[in-house]
Amino acid sequence: MFLNIYHSVMIDALSLEGNVFLGPIAGYSDRSFRSICIEQGANFTFTELISSEALVRNGVKSAVLLRRGDNEKQYGIQLFGADPVVMYKAAALLAPYHPEAVDINAGCPVPKVVKTGAGSGLMRNPPLLGQIVAAVVKSSQDHLGSVPVTIKLRSGWDEGSINYYECSRIAADAGAALVSLHARTRTQGYGGKSDWSHIKDLVSRITLPVIGSGDLFTPEDAENMLRETRCAAVMFARGAIGNPFIFSMTRSLLLTGAYILPDPSERLKTGFRQLRLLAEDAGETIACREMRKQFCAYTRGMPGGAPLRNRLVHAETIEAYRQILDQYGLDLSGKNPANS
Ligand SMILES: Cc1cc2nc3c(=O)[nH]c(=O)nc-3n(C[C@H](O)[C@H](O)[C@H](O)COP(=O)(O)O)c2cc1C
Repeated sequence: MFLNIYHSVMIDALSLEGNVFLGPIAGYSDRSFRSICIEQGANFTFTELISSEALVRNGVKSAVLLRRGDNEKQYGIQLFGADPVVMYKAAALLAPYHPEAVDINAGCPVPKVVKTGAGSGLMRNPPLLGQIVAAVVKSSQDHLGSVPVTIKLRSGWDEGSINYYECSRIAADAGAALVSLHARTRTQGYGGKSDWSHIKDLVSRITLPVIGSGDLFTPEDAENMLRETRCAAVMFARGAIGNPFIFSMTRSLLLTGAYILPDPSERLKTGFRQLRLLAEDAGETIACREMRKQFCAYTRGMPGGAPLRNRLVHAETIEAYRQILDQYGLDLSGKNPANS
């Protein structure tokens, strides 16, 4: 039977046009990158994880981390923390940003986060995880117009404590509207292979929409995950870095069975546009440094990519980037409207 696998998604009352999402990626999924991903067809996006403790202690200092992109009609802000009271207060502070969802991080493996009991540390304490979800749901009702509260889990802490189902049930009972599952354990970090059978199992056992995450590097991976697991949506992460085209390609594959790869010039122009957007938020110097790692990804596998990368990693100004890319054959001057 033909399965229509590109489809809309409902998260409580929130209606999303399609089921190809951008996951939270610390150090990458900022406003500039999210905007570019949306241009390419991402149907929902998340900020990177934001510390509830820092938000509550310092107030909204880094508003830029919280703000939506100019073209971002719907987005979720992700919080992490291990104290229900602090998480309640932090969620309340999101009111000026009007996010369409608040996501709770229960998957971060970083020792600094885990040792406070937050991130994937929450999966070792399911009752606390439930209290955190309940607190954020209450805060959403009190301060955010009852936007959906979602949670992002891993499969479990380690191979011997796979508890994604227990944690999902507890989260659902506490009022969560959706579960994203990165099908790796905390011990795996980002290594090894993700186990999609966990996603399939969860989809078959809970009624909440389940978003699948783990090892989505090509449009075909996304199609396979949707078909194999029947998850409601897929969430790209590393596969989107330097390759935001993965959203348009995936959408095209799911709808038509085929897609077109972007040519080198489109890749570089998109990277350059991301640089300019990032500079508006972070300033030119930081943006130029930050974009080095991104350009390594944008130029991966490109003819002449290695010498180009060697030059771009020394670029300190937007003008320097422009000159290097111009020499590669792009006209980024803006004088030729067809190229701007
Ligand atoms: C550099 C990096 C930063 C990440 N930051 C976050 C984060 O802030 N919050 C979160 O829930 N997941 C985070 N993740 C996990 C991703 O959202 C995703 O679940 C994971 O990378 C698995 O997908 P992939 O194998 O397709 O990359 C991060 C992953 C990477 C590689």
